[in-house]
Amino acid sequence: MKKKLTRIFEKAFQDLGFDPAYGEVIVSDRPDLGQFQCNGALACAKAAKKNPREIAQKIVAAVAPALLPASDGSLSLAGPGFINITLTDEFIAREVAAVSKDARYGIEKNSKPEKTVIDFGGPNVAKAMHVGHLRSSIIGDSLQRIFRFYGNTVVGDNHLGDWGSPMGMLILEVQAKNPSLPYFDAAFSGQYPAESPVTLADLEEMYPRAAARFKTDEKFKADVLRVTDELQKGRKGYKALWQHFVNVTVADLKRDYATMGITFDTWLGESFFEDKMPAMVESLKKGGFTEISQGALIIPLSESKSVANSDSEEEATPTEETAEGQAPGMPPLILVKSGGGFLYHTSDLATIQYRVDQEKADLILYVVDKRQSMHFKQVFTAASKTGLAKAAQLEHLGFGTMNGTDGKPFKTRSGGVLKLRDLIQMLNDEARSKLNELGVSKEYPVDEVQEIARLVGMATLKFADLKNNRVSDYVFDLKKFAQFEGFTGPYLLYAAVRIKSILRKAREAGLNPGAIVPAQVPTERNLMLEIVKLPDAFSRSITGREPHHLAQFGYDLSQSFNTFYKDCHILRETDSAKQASWLGLCQLVHDEIVFCLTMLGITVPERM
Ligand code: ARG
Repeated sequence: MKKKLTRIFEKAFQDLGFDPAYGEVIVSDRPDLGQFQCNGALACAKAAKKNPREIAQKIVAAVAPALLPASDGSLSLAGPGFINITLTDEFIAREVAAVSKDARYGIEKNSKPEKTVIDFGGPNVAKAMHVGHLRSSIIGDSLQRIFRFYGNTVVGDNHLGDWGSPMGMLILEVQAKNPSLPYFDAAFSGQYPAESPVTLADLEEMYPRAAARFKTDEKFKADVLRVTDELQKGRKGYKALWQHFVNVTVADLKRDYATMGITFDTWLGESFFEDKMPAMVESLKKGGFTEISQGALIIPLSESKSVANSDSEEEATPTEETAEGQAPGMPPLILVKSGGGFLYHTSDLATIQYRVDQEKADLILYVVDKRQSMHFKQVFTAASKTGLAKAAQLEHLGFGTMNGTDGKPFKTRSGGVLKLRDLIQMLNDEARSKLNELGVSKEYPVDEVQEIARLVGMATLKFADLKNNRVSDYVFDLKKFAQFEGFTGPYLLYAAVRIKSILRKAREAGLNPGAIVPAQVPTERNLMLEIVKLPDAFSRSITGREPHHLAQFGYDLSQSFNTFYKDCHILRETDSAKQASWLGLCQLVHDEIVFCLTMLGITVPERM
């Protein structure tokens, strides 16, 4: 609707010889004066050094009735040149009817679909998925759904952290515990065991210990680097053991992702790019993009002379990077350490080359903690400077931290770092107790209640995450987000399920949704005006790469529906055309809410 009106006003401005961009129409902030407004006359007058009211008058005369007949809407002038637009109920009903017949709810397809790689998730081997990876997974999954619906071909890639010195640490830890295993015997020529010698729990316990020791124990550090180097050069026993690390981690991750209903098309971890790095480095050297600095091979990224500090890069746990905005220029990108060995940057550059050349990506989106912004700035700058990115567009979509009510990164009850499984348990428990308290689903079979609680729990988590602007930190207040009232996931689930049950009851009484007729009640009109805002919310989610516009829209729509439903007694209505139209609105609102939730990765239970 907004778009349609904007096109009309653009034409009016253009016909009068002005820039059509002034024709933008927005939803009115003064609903008492009009439903929509166009304020372009003011800016236009300023630029043309003319009287704004006169221009506004000319625009009004050009729009109505030629472009907007009286049967569709009327215009009024306010203040120095605001144009208010009030549409007729006939016009609004026609628009809603068109939306109800459209499987895309009026959302246009991308006219130039782009091959899009979305890099999200990105957990690390031997480390439990932490809050940052959880957020990346939830946001990334929503974005892949949104971009697919938009018409792009999307590859969702889980860029697993499965390479580098942490792997060397783990190998040494396993060796210390169990030196007789064949993996450590360089002369071993038999078949390595198919069974992993370690579980994920073992790895999770080993890793923090080894990482701490790595920082303080020089001898251990040297050993780790040596072992890592041998692993990277392909030492068979190490490779076989490493494969077990990856397998046990991935098996566990897949279970977690399945619980959350999140899928990836590819799992090309850092290790996948290992054999692609040497050739890339060579070609960058040949292209003259590199320099030697303190023994390391670097790509300088800014004019100012800065010195590569390959030592501090050593164990740059990516998420802990905070270098942003400190140096006057951009620090150089270290391609190869002084000791020989590649870094996080190097593998990200090789990844770009692969995505551009092999996967033919036009757009690559990285859904990664905003604290890695310096890393991506460097990588993107290098990728464009060296031509590796070709024409592809690279974007880091950073996000903030999920904090607990104490303002610190979210922890579980036991005070430990968040473990996804524990969090899901907490969500389930809370959903269960809420359902009990409200008497929802109480007559349903135990299994079904359990499934409903699971879906409510997931909706609580995902909605809490996606309702916020991506970049802001947010406080995860479980009690608050599990409420069935307010701006929460359960509220939207309940709204959708309730409308479904209204429709079911109607059907049982022999009543079915019918043609949409013009509104006669203000709450009904408001609902109709809300329904047609979906394409705008969707397009903002695309442009900003921000799912929260759809979360907000779903919430606003549910609220408008509740107000309408209190006011209009559908099942008791005696005018059958009106009743059928109201049921048509119910159906459409239901479908739009479910659509928004689907785009957020949230599944609606059959009943509640
Ligand atoms: N594994 C990384 C981490 O834990 C995230 C990977 C993000 N993707 C990338 N292409 N760098 O911080």
